[in-house]
Amino acid sequence: MLFPRVQPLEVELGCGDASFLVAYAGLHSERNFLGVERLLGRLRKLERKGRCAGLTNLRGVRLEAAYFVKYLLRPGSVQALHLYFPDPWPKRRHWRRRLVNEAFPPIARAALALGGTLYLRTDDAPYFAQMQVLLDAAPGFQPVETPAELAGRLTDFEREFQARGIATLRAAYQRVG
Ligand SMILES: C[S@@+](CC[C@H](N)C(=O)[O-])C[C@H]1O[C@@H](n2cnc3c(N)ncnc32)[C@H](O)[C@@H]1O
Repeated sequence: MLFPRVQPLEVELGCGDASFLVAYAGLHSERNFLGVERLLGRLRKLERKGRCAGLTNLRGVRLEAAYFVKYLLRPGSVQALHLYFPDPWPKRRHWRRRLVNEAFPPIARAALALGGTLYLRTDDAPYFAQMQVLLDAAPGFQPVETPAELAGRLTDFEREFQARGIATLRAAYQRVG
């Protein structure tokens, strides 16, 4: 078994150095957390930080995020999907490489439990607009507010953007029946 306790699962896609996940998992021992990351060095940091903090409710997976959501998450098994500062691929010809594309809402919806939530953050306004258009149009999602306790937990990239005076954007969508 991946976790010692069966409890609600939250997943961060593209978790980077995992500062957010380590801090958040430390605050919420009543939930399990999985970080999905394709770079081995970043995943090693997650493992090391989690071990140093004595966290048994945090694990990392080295895989492509969309593949992981589509093929490895049991349908309806996830309470929260966190997607923070995914690579924006700013050139139009690269947009199909974005994680949030037409294929993403249905696979996110399938993975989320009813009442579960997809949390999004980015500094890239055009990508944010694309996310909103896709999620607003997707059946089975409704926009909700990000709870203040979660919004106040910054990721590595978010901290860096804020230090440079770059505005960041956020949205959240709850899975409804
Ligand atoms: C801009 S960083 C953001 C990291 C972190 N979420 C944060 O806010 O500090 C994007 C991260 O996503 C990872 N990543 C990008 N595309 C991915 C994919 N398709 N599957 C898994 N990880 C991915 C990158 O390796 C990188 O660590």
